[in-house]
Amino acid sequence: MPNLDKLIIGFDHALRTLLTPAQTLRPVPGTQLAEAELNDLEKSESAALMRVNHVGEICAQALYQGQALTARDAEVQQTLAQAAREETEHLAWTERRINELSGRKSLLNPLWYGGSFAIGAFAGLLGDKWNLGFLAETERQVSAHLGGHLSRLPHADEKSRAIVTQMQIDEAGHATTAMANGGAELPMPVKLVMKMASSVMTRTAYWV
Ligand SMILES: [Fe+2]
Ligand SMILES: [Fe+2]
Repeated sequence: MPNLDKLIIGFDHALRTLLTPAQTLRPVPGTQLAEAELNDLEKSESAALMRVNHVGEICAQALYQGQALTARDAEVQQTLAQAAREETEHLAWTERRINELSGRKSLLNPLWYGGSFAIGAFAGLLGDKWNLGFLAETERQVSAHLGGHLSRLPHADEKSRAIVTQMQIDEAGHATTAMANGGAELPMPVKLVMKMASSVMTRTAYWV
C-alpha cells in the first residue's frame, strides 16, 4: 500500500511537473537544425500540435507516478522510474518547442494530471502484469498518435519533427520494455476505451 512518504513525494512531483520547467539530460533533438520560416498559420498549427504532445507528456508523468505509487514489485517500480525519467525529457523538449513557437501550454494541465494520476494508480492496484500491460498499450497508442502528428506538422518545421520523431522511438521502447517485464495484453474493449479517452484529450488540448 502507498505510505505517507510516497504520497508526499507524489504531491511534490505533481507540483514540480505543473509549475516548474522540466529538465533534460539528453540534448533536445533538432537543436542543430535552423529555425524554418513558418507563416502564421503553420506556426500556430505546430504550436497547437506541440501543446497536445506536451499534454501527453503531462499525462505520462502522472500515469507513471500513479502507477509507481501502487506497483508491488520493486523491479517494476524501477522500470517505471526509468521510463518516467525519459518522459521528463519529453516534457522539457515539448515545453521548449512551444516557447520557441510562441505558443502556450494547455490551461487544463492540472486536470489532465489529476485524471491520469488516478487512472495510473488504479492500474497499479490491478497488479503488476495489468499495470505493465496498460503501460505498454498506452505507449503503443502514444507512438501511433505521434506518427499521425508527423504527417500533420508543417513539412518545413524540422525542429518539431525531430522532437516528435525521437519521442516516438522512446515511446515504442517503453512499450517493448513493459511487455518484456511481464505486461499482459489488455482486452480489446479496454483498448478501445483508452483510445476514445485519449482522443477526447488530444482534441481538447489542441484548442485549450
Ligand atoms: Fe513521452
Ligand atoms: Fe513513454
